[in-house]
Amino acid sequence: MRRPQREALTDAPGRVTIYEVGPRDGLQNEKTLVPVEVKAEFIRRLVSAGLDTVETTSFVSPTWVPQLADSAALLGLLGEAGRGRNRPVLVPNERGLDAALDNGAQAIAIFASATETFARKNLNRGLEESVAMFAPVVRRALDEGLWVRGYLSMCFGDPWEGDVPIDQVVDVASRMMDLGCDQLSVGDTIGTGTTGHVRRLLDALDGKGIGTERIGVHFHDTYGQALANTMAALDHGVTVVDASAGGLGGCPYAMSATGNLATEDLVWALDGLGIETGVDLQSLVETSVWMAGHLGRPSASRVVKALAG
Ligand code: HMG
Ligand code: MG
Repeated sequence: MRRPQREALTDAPGRVTIYEVGPRDGLQNEKTLVPVEVKAEFIRRLVSAGLDTVETTSFVSPTWVPQLADSAALLGLLGEAGRGRNRPVLVPNERGLDAALDNGAQAIAIFASATETFARKNLNRGLEESVAMFAPVVRRALDEGLWVRGYLSMCFGDPWEGDVPIDQVVDVASRMMDLGCDQLSVGDTIGTGTTGHVRRLLDALDGKGIGTERIGVHFHDTYGQALANTMAALDHGVTVVDASAGGLGGCPYAMSATGNLATEDLVWALDGLGIETGVDLQSLVETSVWMAGHLGRPSASRVVKALAG
């Protein structure tokens, strides 16, 4: 399989952790319901391709996200392969936390919005109410010894509210970290962000004591900016990057949100810089081609298209 020519830069990080969201962010947005056995096989294949951290599913209302209503069955099928601190599940409330714990989860992700409108659209709660909903979830999760990630959506623009002031994003981010989250995932839900904006926001978060070592970046690729924005974040010192195999993804409650940064495109770029990810690109591409077969359409990833030819 073709590889990029390696030209390592001395100031690049030695290793980047890819936080794979395909099974959750990817499949939550599919029109077709993917059978639970296929989901389990997808996750097993991702892990064996070298993706160490894989977000497996969500324990949210099945009325809101029917695509992931099989989360308990999925974790049951996966057994040990679905457990551990590097197999987080999305949880919005204490009901979701109870289910996650009952099914052996050892890591969770809560998900807030930097804007009032998206908080209501996605959680049926205003911003204040949603932070209040998360507080006991994080407290109990930490008491149980779980690892907790906090997603923050609409950090770079909101389809209803338009521009989102950086101060507003930093304010909600600080409140989430004050709840006790171990990591903050800075989300560009609709993919409108650009590189200067990424730098400004990371600087502002740093200024409030949320340093890059506690940050992951989560870029949807709607406007083709996800890889450039990721590179800007890496230059800034971020070493955790969210990506989705084959570029699957989107949020059913965020109009105009399309797929995440494709994991293959990210791996290609990092490989060229000599940055380790632990991922075997060939088996990852094969996995995305296999998944595309189940979904009935080709992968959105440019690297998958180029290599699977
Ligand atoms: P609600 O309707 O206000 O909830 O929804 P409720 O508390 O009134 O309960 C309604 C019903 O749902 C009840 O059932 C509850 O028991 C049940 P009923 O009594 O009517 O039979 N219920 C649940 N069932 C299972 N698991 C649960 C649960 N909670 C309540 N955890 C709620 C509020 C938060 C539940 C709802 O809004 C919800 O589930 N939202 C999730 C939306 C979602 O998953 N969006 C996609 C993920 S976020 C994303 O993709 C962005 C991200 O990728 C970052 C980025 O890109 O920016 C992370
Ligand atoms: Mg997302």
